[in-house]
Amino acid sequence: MESPFKADIVKGKVALVTGGGSGIGLEISTQFGIHGASIAIMGRRKQVLDAAVSSLRSLGIQAVGFEGDVRKQEDAKRVVESTFQHFGRLDILVNAAAGNFLVSAEDLSPNGFRTVMDIDSVGTFTMCHEALKYLKKGAPGRGSSGGGLILSISATLHYTAAWYQIHVSAAKAAVDATTRNLALEWGTDYDIRVNGIAPGPIGDTPGMSKLAPDEINNNARDYIPLYKLGEKWDIAMAALYLASDAGKYVNGAILVVDGGLWLSRPRHMPKDAVRQLSRAVEKRSRDAPVGVPKSKL
Ligand code: COA
Repeated sequence: MESPFKADIVKGKVALVTGGGSGIGLEISTQFGIHGASIAIMGRRKQVLDAAVSSLRSLGIQAVGFEGDVRKQEDAKRVVESTFQHFGRLDILVNAAAGNFLVSAEDLSPNGFRTVMDIDSVGTFTMCHEALKYLKKGAPGRGSSGGGLILSISATLHYTAAWYQIHVSAAKAAVDATTRNLALEWGTDYDIRVNGIAPGPIGDTPGMSKLAPDEINNNARDYIPLYKLGEKWDIAMAALYLASDAGKYVNGAILVVDGGLWLSRPRHMPKDAVRQLSRAVEKRSRDAPVGVPKSKL
């Protein structure tokens, strides 16, 4: 789909995207690149990184890949520094790396829980921590521009509760808390904006193929009201808005991009029935003699 934004809205900026080799991370990298940014992507698998870098370069985007695991502080430090060495500045950190699998709480081992916390929550904080010195106002390479931007991808699972996702719900809740706390501290101290995006179910992503394998994909629409699959493009457009000057006053926000899905609940009564019943109930209570308890009407 064609972008509604001007082609240069993030021109001259340098973005480092964790998990940028596939899924939502790659689409954000692609759209940032198409709109003028230079891109570094970080991931664990060399082959995936190489393929993603080639695809970005084939679009004329300045791109480089660095192998690394967000769970390892030394990797985070090395990749942030390599990005700075390569491009001479860092403006945007996108935390898109995540781990996920479906499992009931009783079947999940504490180490399984910890693994997802380590990738999503601790990994996000570690990347932010290592990137701070390049993102803050006045940092090397930033010239007279203000502070940079951090964008962390979370989810809506923890707004209510989610079946077989206790580890991810807990991890994404921590990511959102990290977003808000850094927005407060680093927004105030260093002019860095820190925002999040909470995607709903997005088609054609590694996350979706793990959480809604083909076997259950097809009937999800039948039992979830408001069920609409989003596209990676929807998330990338939200990221572009937040990264551009259009988002310059947005700090500490977590933008839900899910077609309203998390608000979804079954309709307990048809609309026509509400119209009739509501009028009838009002009429009954208007016509009732004074002093008769409502329960007797
Ligand atoms: N069900 C239950 N437990 C599982 C599991 C599953 N499907 N997959 C992994 N675990 C548990 C393991 O049993 C292990 O716990 P244990 O030591 O108590 O047995 C723990 O999680 C770590 O597993 P391991 O395979 O060693 O982790 P890893 O570091 O190699 O991989 C994952 C991390 C499990 C998150 C893996 O799915 C991954 O790399 N994901 C990244 C890609 C991804 O998930 N993308 C979707 C983004 S939304």
